[in-house]
Amino acid sequence: MIGAYLVIVSCFLVVLNFKMYTLGIETSCDETSCAVLKNYKVLSNVTISSLRQHKKYGGIIPEIATRAHLKNIDKVFNAALSEAKISLHRISVIAVTHKPGLIGSLVVGINFAKALSLALGKPLIGVNHLHAHLFAPFLNYPAKIKFPFLGLVVSGGHTEIYRVDDFNKMKIIGQTRDDACGEVFDKIGRSLGLGYPGGPIIDKLFDAKRKDEFKFKCGKIGLDLSFSGIKTAVIYKQIELEKKKLLDRKSKIGLISAFQATVVEAIVQTVVDASIKTGINRVVCGGGVIANSFLRARLSAQKERKIRLFAAPLTYSTDNAAMVAGIGFYLYNKGIKSNLSLKAEAS
Ligand code: KG4
Ligand code: ZN
Repeated sequence: MIGAYLVIVSCFLVVLNFKMYTLGIETSCDETSCAVLKNYKVLSNVTISSLRQHKKYGGIIPEIATRAHLKNIDKVFNAALSEAKISLHRISVIAVTHKPGLIGSLVVGINFAKALSLALGKPLIGVNHLHAHLFAPFLNYPAKIKFPFLGLVVSGGHTEIYRVDDFNKMKIIGQTRDDACGEVFDKIGRSLGLGYPGGPIIDKLFDAKRKDEFKFKCGKIGLDLSFSGIKTAVIYKQIELEKKKLLDRKSKIGLISAFQATVVEAIVQTVVDASIKTGINRVVCGGGVIANSFLRARLSAQKERKIRLFAAPLTYSTDNAAMVAGIGFYLYNKGIKSNLSLKAEAS
């Protein structure tokens, strides 16, 4: 009798679950993004970036980012609902990034989410942005989620490798000891006058045939990495070439090719080392720098070493609200919820 009751209840939950819509909100840096998921299927993911406004400063200006979020949050929210073709009252869960990020930027998204949660009487889930990056490869494909795995996040503000036993059981096993990888791409791009952000520009200009024209080294201590030394070395080399009047487009491409190849090989070696150390061969990766074609190619080439790669698709590598909604819905299903005292945290 009890068995039959449980089956009926679980069938009911499956049916109920089938109709669950999650709203995701992301405002941790310069992207204002809202997404709607039907379970793990992305129905909409609308992003407005304030990147253009920061370009002339060569980096993100927090005050400008906050004002842009305030201006754009309504727009992306309404567009996400209309693209998903659902009305607001059908949203069942509200997920929002609450850390890490720029405090002013985070507060815009969190307050928007809290107001919705209160007005609609729907649960609020506070999400860690870096953990959300690791959910990106599973959007639309939840059946691929299998634990444990190694999680590699390489973004503008972070470079971390996790042992992930579940999305609420994550342990950092390696990280940068100084600059984040994306930050160094951006600083080198700016120093060489290539434009901002440097990551995608360097990716496009990279020439594998010229990666040995200069010799650089990346700091590696166990599963930790250091990028500040290579950043300084590339800039010193640039100054030396400038003094000798040898700094032209050709030599710049040689410099960035050597830089990118060195950084990528250090990251790949760290993943291999982490896999040997933990005995885990499933590697899940996300974050802006994971959009880098050479890094993706080198990581997937590790299948020779039996490493199975789950990389965020390009659309969900950089900041977006779909990944926030995805992990939010996952945590909700595990019974994890936040309340209205949810706070923005910088780190
Ligand atoms: O994850 P993300 O969108 O924002 C943060 O959470 O930081 O990452 C942004 C970073 C920037 O540093 C940008 O230069 C870098 O990702 N990036 C890339 C590429 N696309 C974006 N770096 C290297 N190659 C790319 N194709
Ligand atoms: Zn990010």
